[in-house]
Amino acid sequence: MKLADNKATLSFSNGSPSVDLPVYQGSVGPDVIDIRKLYAQTGMFTYDPGFLSTASCQSAITYIDGDKGELLYRGYPIEQLATNCDFMETCHLLLYGNLPDVAAKTAFVKRVSNHTMVNEQMQFFLRGFRRDAHPMAIMTGLVGALSAFYHDSTDINNPEHREISAIRLIAKMPTLVAMAYKYSVGQPYMYPKNELSYAGNFLHMMFATPCADYVVNPVIERALDRIFVLHADHEQNASTSTVRLCGSSGTNPFAAIAAGVACLWGPAHGGANEACLNMLEDIQKMGGISKVGHFMEQVKDKNSGVKLMGFGHRVYKNYDPRAKLMQETCKEVLAELGLENDPLFKLAMALEKIALEDEYFVSRKLYPNVDFYSGIVQRAIGIPVGLFTAVFALARTVGWIAQLNEMIGDPEYKIGRPRQLFTGSVSRDVLPISKR
Ligand code: CMC
Repeated sequence: MKLADNKATLSFSNGSPSVDLPVYQGSVGPDVIDIRKLYAQTGMFTYDPGFLSTASCQSAITYIDGDKGELLYRGYPIEQLATNCDFMETCHLLLYGNLPDVAAKTAFVKRVSNHTMVNEQMQFFLRGFRRDAHPMAIMTGLVGALSAFYHDSTDINNPEHREISAIRLIAKMPTLVAMAYKYSVGQPYMYPKNELSYAGNFLHMMFATPCADYVVNPVIERALDRIFVLHADHEQNASTSTVRLCGSSGTNPFAAIAAGVACLWGPAHGGANEACLNMLEDIQKMGGISKVGHFMEQVKDKNSGVKLMGFGHRVYKNYDPRAKLMQETCKEVLAELGLENDPLFKLAMALEKIALEDEYFVSRKLYPNVDFYSGIVQRAIGIPVGLFTAVFALARTVGWIAQLNEMIGDPEYKIGRPRQLFTGSVSRDVLPISKR
């Protein structure tokens, strides 16, 4: 970390001595005030629920400029990565910091392909679930269960273990997501086919059956690959911070990633793509585009509890760059499948248009986020709504593991342990039950 020329001075109105705090500069983005010694110097904590002004770590992986609507993985703009690179190259970039050349990519793809199968025992875990279990419930269980199978890669303090568990997780997530799907529809699991691309293999495991050939559609394959690239990392969001906090105790990588999967499930985070599609379907049932005005009134009414899902973001106060790319992909996929007149896509466009012009959204800087169009793409591909967040988890796994490994390799890393402002009862005596 680079020390800035200036420092911050904290003064108190009650005459307590002021405190100088160091300021650090990143390569880009806001400076940070180092408050690590604040408690020792003043006996006070800082208070920042929701981390609105707190950098929880230093990181060199992903940078977001929320005002500009800019997203960089290791310095590369997401638009360039989504256009010029595939998901395997993106994984290499996030994990190792550089885009691979042809030889490095071939070697990386081979390594990942070698680990796509899961232990046969895993299918018995699935049998313990109800057929109608939510795929994220299944994924939380299955990813955590990986630590019961791969004992040779569970020591988070061993760089080789971290490396091999990263490859295993990236390789096995598509297999697990597809198994969760096949279980829910009662079809046989399909083994991975390693000659296919990462996205093509996922499509094969999802939609092939043992009784018919399945040919991967290159337009759909490319669209899915783009979904993976766009979701691969997003700096210190809730699930990534969960993975870091969980991993900071020294737990094994599979357990830490399972914690990330659980966090991602929530509708304010990864569950938003599912919630967004459900919202569009509900409006469609109510009468479609003619009901958009009525729906928007509900969204703007604070007492209704209705939100425009797929809109708004903690960091982006401009158009989410991923949403633009996703809208492009959405058009391509719908055209390829002859669904140009898809009513949900038209509805989404109508909602977006109204929201971008409405004072409520404009004044709050609420723009479409990645989830606004990703659900429509996934639905067109044939992925059931309940599986959307599991597909997000599949793609985000590389980001989680890259962030986890970065943290463990950081000499300044400590177990995460936030403090609190206590507002409960002060010390009091327990009365015998007859006197309470
Ligand atoms: N619809 C209606 N109003 C909204 C929305 C929305 N989608 N999002 C924010 N607002 C309002 C909010 O009520 C608040 O209004 P006011 O200032 O009058 O109280 C204002 O905008 C600021 O919102 P906030 O809740 O303080 O913002 P936040 O940073 O805490 O929340 C968010 C961010 C993503 C949780 C929120 O925008 C939201 O719930 N969006 C819908 C869910 C969604 O699409 N999530 C996906 C996020 S992107 C994928 C990912 O990273 O997982």
